[in-house]
Amino acid sequence: MYPILAKTKLNNQVEEMIVHAPYVARRCEPGQFIILRVDDKGERIPLTIAEYDRARETVTIIYQIVGYTTQKLSEKQAGDTLADFVGPLGRPTELHAHQRVIGIGGGVGAAPLYPQLKKLSEMGVSVDLILGARSKDLIILEEKFSKFCKNIYVTTDDGSYGTKGLVTNKLKELVEKGAKYDEVIAIGPLIMMKFVSLLTKPWNLKTSVSLNPVMVDGTGMCGGCRVTVGGQTKFVCVDGPDFDGHQVDYDELMRRQGMYKTEEAHICKLQLGAA
Ligand code: NAD
Ligand code: FES
Repeated sequence: MYPILAKTKLNNQVEEMIVHAPYVARRCEPGQFIILRVDDKGERIPLTIAEYDRARETVTIIYQIVGYTTQKLSEKQAGDTLADFVGPLGRPTELHAHQRVIGIGGGVGAAPLYPQLKKLSEMGVSVDLILGARSKDLIILEEKFSKFCKNIYVTTDDGSYGTKGLVTNKLKELVEKGAKYDEVIAIGPLIMMKFVSLLTKPWNLKTSVSLNPVMVDGTGMCGGCRVTVGGQTKFVCVDGPDFDGHQVDYDELMRRQGMYKTEEAHICKLQLGAA
């Protein structure tokens, strides 16, 4: 059993949980993820590690309440336990000692981006960040990023904070004004990563994305996390979760992501009385 040491609400959809998980905390690196089960009858869900503390043996996860299991997870409080917390899974992000990198965090995608940018900054890389969300209340981790990012550009779809518009508008503006980056690291909704990659491809600007498809075992055996990258079949759980953004078949992945929406809505209705 894995004790929950703390739980904080970041906004009305997103929560942060600090879990005592000594094995994972000792070995994990930025980019890796865990698979948890809330209780012994629960389904397995993957969540990217947002932060870890080797001394305290803790791992921080940040999740959006989107379905049955994340709703059950959000009912847990500090002092409760989680049945399983397996990891670290996936390959650590390959972080290069570039001169200058820009991260793009879309909504809750800012959480897995955080450890990657923090480590790059510790390696001496100059790090900029575009933080985008639908509205001001959905922007997360801005203060934490501000401790090491050189420039932070906030965008909101409704204009309630920062610049009104999408993260891609801001990236285009920066590059057209002469900003030079060695790499873009974009993490957020698939549609965002697709359009960031379409924007940066003609510029030959290296773009890394992190994928989070449906997963079951997390060890390359079930095929649930299959994705096409550069025309080849890859399994996100063992070959990723990070990939070259210019090579990912986003449209196929978006179709696959939508496959279980009906079942998810059904179980929520049955078990939680939700729509
Ligand atoms: P969201 O739908 O509110 O989008 C966040 C931002 O993405 C928007 O504000 C906008 O700037 C940008 N965006 C959206 N559509 C765009 C488009 N067509 N072109 C350019 N930019 C666009 O985000 P959310 O509701 O917080 O959802 C976050 C998503 O991140 C979830 O779908 C989740 O699956 C995903 N996620 C990914 C990872 C990962 O490791 N890859 C981890 C956590 C979450
Ligand atoms: Fe089963 Fe990746 S989750 S192969």
